[in-house]
Amino acid sequence: MERRDFVSHLSMAMALACAGGLAACTKHMADAPDNNNGGGNAKLTADLSTELLNTGNFKIGGGVILIRIAAGNTPSAFSALSSTCTHQGCTVSTFNTGSDLIECNAPCGHGSRYTTTGAVQTGPATAALPKMTVSINGNTLSVS
Ligand code: FES
Repeated sequence: MERRDFVSHLSMAMALACAGGLAACTKHMADAPDNNNGGGNAKLTADLSTELLNTGNFKIGGGVILIRIAAGNTPSAFSALSSTCTHQGCTVSTFNTGSDLIECNAPCGHGSRYTTTGAVQTGPATAALPKMTVSINGNTLSVS
């Protein structure tokens, strides 16, 4: 094999390895549950002794956005919604405590805004974020 052929084959092999690795990594990131999920079927958990202490605090992970919307450690004090924007599937970026809206921003998102109930406030999204179930056992909040 000539040097030019060897370099060509090596480049092709590296390109395939990178593409495969990137695809695996992207899938892992998209499907990765929150590291602090407490096991079981929980998609996201929170330790209420140290997290989400104040109204407006939020956490995104495991395909969930979890927002404290009121005082107290009862399920009704929290909103848990899918964090996957219904426009084109980006993970929502943040919860804006000034506007009380969930934002899907660049670089992935296109500016959709949702209320804490999941309803679309501003498009381009047209469908609400699906609601998820919150349960609390002691200081451990679980979203499923
Ligand atoms: S993916 Fe969220 S606004 Fe487009």
